[in-house]
Amino acid sequence: MFEIKAKDNRARVGVLKTKHGNVTTPALMPVIHPGRQTIDVAKHGATIVITNSYIIYKDKELKEKALADGVHKLINFDGPLMTDSGSFQLSVYGDIDISNTEVIDFQEAIGTDIGTSLDIPTAPYVTRQKAEEDLEITLERSKEAVQYKKDHNIEMLLNSVVQGSTFTDLREKCAKELRQLDADLYPIGAIVPLMEMYKYSDLVDVVMHSITNLPDNVPRHLMGAGHPMIFALCVAMGCDLFDSAAYVLYAEDDRLLSTRGTYKLENLTEMPCSCEVCSKYTPDDLRAMDKKERVKLIAQHNLAVSLGEIRTIRQAINDGDLMELVEERCRAHPALLDGLRKLGEYSDDLEYYNPSTKNSAFFYTGPESLQRAEIRRHIKKLREMDKKSTLILAPPTRKPYSKNISGKLGRFYVYGEELELDLEDSDMMVLDLPFGLIPLDIDEVYPLSQNDAPKIKDADSVEFIEDCIEEFAEYYNQILIHQSIVNHYDFDLERIHPQSDEIRYIKDDIRKIKTIADYQFGIGSGDALFDGKVKIEKSKKTGKIRHISVDGNLVANMRASDAFLVLTKEGGKKLHQATTYPHNRVVVNQDSEPFTRDGKSVFCQFVVEMDENIRPGDEVLIVNENDDLLAIGKALLNSCEIESFNNGQAIKTRKGFKK
Ligand code: GUN
Ligand code: ZN
Repeated sequence: MFEIKAKDNRARVGVLKTKHGNVTTPALMPVIHPGRQTIDVAKHGATIVITNSYIIYKDKELKEKALADGVHKLINFDGPLMTDSGSFQLSVYGDIDISNTEVIDFQEAIGTDIGTSLDIPTAPYVTRQKAEEDLEITLERSKEAVQYKKDHNIEMLLNSVVQGSTFTDLREKCAKELRQLDADLYPIGAIVPLMEMYKYSDLVDVVMHSITNLPDNVPRHLMGAGHPMIFALCVAMGCDLFDSAAYVLYAEDDRLLSTRGTYKLENLTEMPCSCEVCSKYTPDDLRAMDKKERVKLIAQHNLAVSLGEIRTIRQAINDGDLMELVEERCRAHPALLDGLRKLGEYSDDLEYYNPSTKNSAFFYTGPESLQRAEIRRHIKKLREMDKKSTLILAPPTRKPYSKNISGKLGRFYVYGEELELDLEDSDMMVLDLPFGLIPLDIDEVYPLSQNDAPKIKDADSVEFIEDCIEEFAEYYNQILIHQSIVNHYDFDLERIHPQSDEIRYIKDDIRKIKTIADYQFGIGSGDALFDGKVKIEKSKKTGKIRHISVDGNLVANMRASDAFLVLTKEGGKKLHQATTYPHNRVVVNQDSEPFTRDGKSVFCQFVVEMDENIRPGDEVLIVNENDDLLAIGKALLNSCEIESFNNGQAIKTRKGFKK
C-alpha cells in the first residue's frame, strides 16, 4: 500500500497506492468543496484531493448524485480521493446527526479511496480531563471503524486520527493504541489552531510525539495544514500528506500565500511569484476586479505556490538537502525558528532515520545546523573510537585536510623545544566547523569533507568547538593544540600547551583504512579486515585509495564520493568472522536464503531481525538464523522501518555466497 523510495532525516519520498492510482508523497491534497468548487485543481498539478463527506451527506442533491455516480464524478476528479468525516463540523457545531458507522458506510457507498472515522478534534490547551475524555471517544470510534471495515468487507482505505490536544503523553498514548489497529493511514488531528496561533514549537512536540509512536509503513497526514511555509519542517518530521483549504480560504480574504509567509493584497506593490497569475496581472489589476474573479485568481496563485513547494521538498529529499531547505524556510518567521530549534531536541530520533551517505554536501546555514543528525552522529561515533594517548589538534586547511596539511606545518615544538612526539601513539585531528573534531585518517569519509561553513564564525559554533575540546581532553593524557587555533578560542584547559606551533601529519594508508573501517563498522573491524599483507591501489588520476587487497585477495573498494568501504565477498567473510551477532547483521528467514545467496535483494518481509544500529545506507552482512553468511549488501531502511513494512526492498544485495 505504501513504499519508501528516498529518505532524508525522518522525511520520505514514498508511493501510496489507491484504487484510483498511485500518489507520490509528500503530497498536498487541495480541499474540494463539493458543489462550490471553481478551480480545476488537477489542471494545476494536484495528484490527490480531499473533500468532506459530511457536507455531501447533508445536502440532498449532492448526496443523491454522489450515491448514484460516485464522489469522483461529483467533484469531477478521477484520481486518488480522500474524504473527511465531519469531525470538523462536530468540533464547530458541537453535535452532528450521523453515527460513526454511518459515516463509514456512506464514504464507502460514494466510492471514496480513503475514508475517515468520526474522531474528536480536541483543541490545544484544554484541560487534561477534557483531552482524556475526548481521546477515549476518538479511540473507541477508531477501533469500531477498523472492526466495521473488517466485518463488512469495506474496500476503502481508512484513516485513524491521532488526537490528544497539546498533552504530549496523550498524543503518545493515542498513537501507540492506534498502531495496534493496523489502520491504513494515520492523520495527526487538531493542529489547525496551533498553526493559526503560530505555536510551531508546540506543533513540533505534538507531531514528534505522535509520529515516533506510529508505524513507519503507513503514511501520516497533517490534517488541515495548508500553509506552504511549514511544509518542509513537517516533512522533515515524517509527515507525508497535507491538505489545504487555505488556498481558497486565504484567497477569499485577499491574502496570498508564499513560503515566506502571507501577503495582504492591499499591501502588495509587486506580485509575489512567477506563477501564471503573478506573471499576467499586477496587484492593481487584481484590486480592480470583481471579488469572484479575484478570489479565483488568488486561489490559483495560492495553489501553485503550495504545490510548487511540495515539488521542491521532494527534490530536496532526493538530493539529501532537505534540512538546508528547512533551515531556510524556518527563517521566514521567529515562531518557525522556534519550531526548528524545538526539533533539535529530537535530533537523536532524526539521526536514526537519516541515511549515512548523501549526494549533496552538508551546508552549515546557522547555529541550528549544529543540531543536525550528521553532526550528532559524528560526535557519537568519535566518542566510541579507540583513543591514543596524545591528541594533536591542527588548524583547518583546504579539504580534504589530510591531503593539504602534510608537510606544510613542519615539526612540533613545545616551549621552543622540538617535541619528541610518538606519532604512533597520537590521534591527529583538525578542528573545524561544522563537525568539530575531524580525525585526519577519516577526513574523506562523508560528510567530513563534503561540507561547507562560513569562514566568519558565530558564537554558538565557537562554543560548540570549545565544548568538543573540553570533552575530548578528558579522553587523552595530553592535548597539543596548534598556535593558530589557540588564538581563536577560549579554552579552560591546563593540559594544553599553547606554544605548540608546528605540526606534521605523516600519512599512513594502512592506519587510515583501518580507522575508516572502525568508524564505519565498529571498533576492531579495521584489524579484522586488514590483517595480513595489505596492498593498496590508488586512482592514477586522483591519488585516492580505490582497491584494498589482503594476501592477494581483494577485500574492499573505497568509494570515491564518500570514502566509505564497500566490502567484497572476501571482506564480508572477514568482517563476519571477526564480529559477533548481531553486529552489522541483517538476519533473513529460511525461505529467502536461496534468493539471497543468489544475489537477489532482500525484501522487508524476509527480515527476521537485524542490528538496531544499522542506518539507511550502511554496508551490511546478510545472514540466516544460524549466522551463516549469505550475502553482503546495503541497507535501504533502518531496523524500525524494516520491521514495520511487509513489502518493499530492505537491503540491496551486492554479492551472494552461492552454496
Ligand atoms: N481537519 C482538520 N483537523 C482535523 C481533525 O482533527 N480531524 C478531522 N477528522 N479532520 C480535520
Ligand atoms: Zn503567483
